[in-house]
Amino acid sequence: MTTAAVSRRGVQTLMASRSQVCRRSMRAVPRQISCRQFSLSSKRLAKEGSKKSKVSPEDKAKLWDEYKQSFHFTPASPPDSLRVGGTVTVHGFLGKRRDISAKAAFVDVVHPGQSRPVQVRSAWEVEGSPEHELHLQLKAANSYSPVAVTGLVEEAPGEGTLEEKGNALLRLGSIQVLNAFPRDIIVSKGVQFPATARHLQMRFSEALQRRLAFRSDVASWSRKQLTSAGFREFETPVLFKSTPEGAREFIVPTRRRGFAYALPQSPQQFKQILMASGVAGGYFQFARCFRDEDLRADRQPEFTQLDLEMSFATGEDVMQAVERYTKELFAYLGETYRLAKNTAGDDNKTIPIPIEALSKGKGTLSTRPYATISDEPFQRMVYDEAMAKYGSDKPDLRIPGEIHRVDHILPSSFTSMITSLEDPVVDAWRLRLDGSPSESRKFVQRLFDSLPPAIGKNPDGMPAVMIYDSSKPLCGLAPLGHEAFGELTDADEHPELANLSDFEDGDVLLLQARKREPFFSGGSTALGLLRLEAYRAAIEEELLPYDDTFRFLWVVGFPMFTPTEADAADPGQGGHAGFSATHHPFTAPLTEQDFELLTTDPLRAKADHYDLVVNGVELGGGSRRIHVAAVQEAVMRDILKMDDAGVAQFGHLLEALRAGCPPHAGFALGFDRLVAVLSGTGSVRDVIAFPKSMKGEDQSVKSPGRLTPAQLETYHLALRSAKTSQGDDTKK
Ligand code: AMO
Repeated sequence: MTTAAVSRRGVQTLMASRSQVCRRSMRAVPRQISCRQFSLSSKRLAKEGSKKSKVSPEDKAKLWDEYKQSFHFTPASPPDSLRVGGTVTVHGFLGKRRDISAKAAFVDVVHPGQSRPVQVRSAWEVEGSPEHELHLQLKAANSYSPVAVTGLVEEAPGEGTLEEKGNALLRLGSIQVLNAFPRDIIVSKGVQFPATARHLQMRFSEALQRRLAFRSDVASWSRKQLTSAGFREFETPVLFKSTPEGAREFIVPTRRRGFAYALPQSPQQFKQILMASGVAGGYFQFARCFRDEDLRADRQPEFTQLDLEMSFATGEDVMQAVERYTKELFAYLGETYRLAKNTAGDDNKTIPIPIEALSKGKGTLSTRPYATISDEPFQRMVYDEAMAKYGSDKPDLRIPGEIHRVDHILPSSFTSMITSLEDPVVDAWRLRLDGSPSESRKFVQRLFDSLPPAIGKNPDGMPAVMIYDSSKPLCGLAPLGHEAFGELTDADEHPELANLSDFEDGDVLLLQARKREPFFSGGSTALGLLRLEAYRAAIEEELLPYDDTFRFLWVVGFPMFTPTEADAADPGQGGHAGFSATHHPFTAPLTEQDFELLTTDPLRAKADHYDLVVNGVELGGGSRRIHVAAVQEAVMRDILKMDDAGVAQFGHLLEALRAGCPPHAGFALGFDRLVAVLSGTGSVRDVIAFPKSMKGEDQSVKSPGRLTPAQLETYHLALRSAKTSQGDDTKK
């Protein structure tokens, strides 16, 4: 035994008692209990908690005593002291006890900071012996309680050194329970805790724990990498002010009457000011950003960006720096992690596991290596091409087959059947499944039974679907009519359709009409969305093989401005031009010609903006900035037609640009999205410790909270009556 390993006051043994306090603070949540039941019970608890404590004076004295003893828990021995024959103390959560007989049991002690558990063995022979006493103490200790266990390191069964065997074996010498885990929280295999108990979700989901640890690792690797590449880390304020940058903001009222901060939608303006300030050639920050927008699986009202900016740099320089970072990150992940199928049952996604942890005890887990990415430069695609060929501004390049325009070969009798639009564009996409025409028919039936409203209730018309079947008249494409069928399948006449019309039996042909107008609004076309849905469904039903590659691309050449839609989710810049900046108003035009277009035909001007996309996810976006104050002001005032007050809100930025700001460009990676994609989940909530729900609520801490009359008073606020107030309801 290393004497240093033992507490100065000797080992204290604290028995786990089932305290009433613990019982009242948490309810059991077995799998069947719904979130609603859980929250009802926690409401009741909150109510009960406010009543006078019903703990008896004796129990209270005992609890007090236990708490006092836990001040002096035995320190843990250094990891390298875990040698056979030594006596050591380990800390961790007690696992489920495995009784070998009435006289012997094993239990794991798992420390959250260590990749392998320590196994503890307890055995006794003589009733009333110290070993028997210890065994009873172990049996009384509730599983999942934090403990300090002291014992003799024994030879673990199996071949090899302790390192090779994976975990150490301790003969129980003493056990100190540091805060008993209540028995009424039921932890069975596959138990699913509701979002109101996020601490239990995190505690009992290996997948969640692994992903959060992975996130921390990717963050610290990124920090090191960027610092060694010459970037400096800066923090920028979170209490900012309202500026019409584009997205809807969150406002923070102050005690100063009529004044409010706004939370930054991104550190965009501050990072540009840093470039003007000459404090760094390259800036980076893990920046918290806040946007009051509609939430989705890949969107949170507060999220993290890995934000970059470089001075004396062009967009091209930034794209190359981001590409280098991404490739080096993949190289690091390939060497350090493997992806395992999540078998714990709480979801069906993958989890990243450090290779080091696999070699220590998890050797039997079936894993696959990280897919490598090629050293070739990332593919680049202009926005219009992405929209036309993939029906999306963030194409998933794993989906086979491109979209083709076919309206030039279709008879009007067919077109008028699928849309009421005058002179529409009709797009077509062919999906090749691994099956017969009848299997394809069944697949299509299932797909069309659950179409999202954007496809199923599209005012431009429903998609038309046909299954290629050589046993049928016109091979199942009869609705097109003889002439169009002939044209579609004549590759000599229509070489532009050759990749669409080289049909095989079972191919699914989907056609969709849309308005004949430029692609301005981004996002997806109805056929782009259907293509994505169909691909996902085909993978799920194993009619297409799952593709685990990462297909990166840059989408470039976005329009600088987008016509303002009456029902636009983002408020834009509030100008009167009838359009707003597609990304933000600081983006530079792509070329000199685009700059010229600003004054003649601004809606045709392209921006020097680039989005990094992987597998259908927009990972990040950035641009070259307008670095000359007069041009920036003209874009705001003359092109976007912002009024004086609007322009004045950007006065700080204009002043900074005016002070000889160098050319600069930057980028922001959506860090939550990056970690989600890299760890094999489609939801950013799986990689955020305390995510918000689709309603923007944190159900575990119950935020946002209702304003009290005292707060309204302090911040000089008044609530409008529910009848007159617009927007979100007050009943939530
Ligand atoms: P942008 O608005 O494109 O650019 O944001 C950059 C990236 O941040 C991620 N992202 C989000 N992630 C989770 N929840 C959200 N609500 C959310 N919104 C955006 C996306 C997105 O690509 N200032 C510019 C960057 C620049 O020009 O340098 C900006 O914020 O992955």
